Amino acid sequence: MKKVGILTSGGDCQGLNAAIRGVVKSLYKKFGNDVEIYGIHDGYRGLIEGSFQPMRPDDFSGILTLGGTILGTSRQPYKTIRAVDANSGDKVKKMKETYGKIGLDCLVILGGNGTHKTANLLSQEGLHIVTLPKTIDNDVWNTDMTFGFSSAAEIATHVIDCIHTTATSHGRIFIVEVMGHKVGWLTLQAGLAGGADVILIPEIPYRMDAIVAALQRRSESGKRFSILAVAEGAVSSDEARMSKKEFKSEREKMKYPSISYRLADEIGKRTGHEIRVTVPGHFQRGGSPCTYDRVLATRFGTAASELIFQEKYGYMVALKNGYIIPVPLSDVAGRLKSVPGNCEIVRSAKDIGISFGCE
Ligand code: F6P
Repeated sequence: MKKVGILTSGGDCQGLNAAIRGVVKSLYKKFGNDVEIYGIHDGYRGLIEGSFQPMRPDDFSGILTLGGTILGTSRQPYKTIRAVDANSGDKVKKMKETYGKIGLDCLVILGGNGTHKTANLLSQEGLHIVTLPKTIDNDVWNTDMTFGFSSAAEIATHVIDCIHTTATSHGRIFIVEVMGHKVGWLTLQAGLAGGADVILIPEIPYRMDAIVAALQRRSESGKRFSILAVAEGAVSSDEARMSKKEFKSEREKMKYPSISYRLADEIGKRTGHEIRVTVPGHFQRGGSPCTYDRVLATRFGTAASELIFQEKYGYMVALKNGYIIPVPLSDVAGRLKSVPGNCEIVRSAKDIGISFGCE
């Protein structure tokens, strides 16, 4: 009897259930009645606290289009996982105990960046781990794509589309704040698809002068409105020069709820225009996965099941040049896939006149 545990960790995204379904349906097909699936509750927390349940085939029916995760999730930062403290003890030891108590042959982990650091640690500790890359940020190293990204990009694009009609009617400047604290893939994708005039992402620090100049150029060419797609992690060039510590303390002093409100205030003062801010927030992670994510999540799921069948552990399934391939966890953990400042998509955006606030 093969015993397989499965958990989802970190921020949720569209396609988690589709991926779970892909893994499990494919396992049932391969092993028939010789496989038992255990759902671990709320990510690594369930593994630490020993909270899990045996699942039945029916549990995985009707979930392809369902948003969120049927297993629950939580954020358990890597540094807290490693810390041994009086309250929660040795969490790695506890996770290994839960794995052993169920008698798992393998643990399937669906997660993003932070999740992969812990997955790699558990693999190094001797557990049999297979992972799937999920996140709306598309920032997992060594895969061209994560599931969740396309669905979130559809939503963020739709927001910019809707804002367009209001911006046009009122002749206003609008800022749409897109999720992504560390990387700007989502903002870039939605900004380009939604026809934003200015795109600000963490990887390309902005200068207020350049933003104002871009907005002025638009208004001088007779355009009544402008739209800025701004990543929640956008930084000014002054901030980019600060140490981590200085930056943190500066941002703690910031009187605005987010970077977009600060930009709105600054641009308003510099241009005399009315600026409005829209923050779709977690809306971007919600609802049904789009067609692309349903297919990608299912492909990742069946590829993960094949690895388990072959007893090939310590890998993440990845999309590379159109193919699904296994990549070693050690080549994924601790690395972030950021937007290269001069990549083709950025150059393409610049070629059609989009400003990144740095020209
Ligand atoms: O990692 C996904 C993500 O949605 C980021 O884009 C965002 O910065 C962060 O999670 C928000 O985290 P939380 O859901 O914990 O507020």
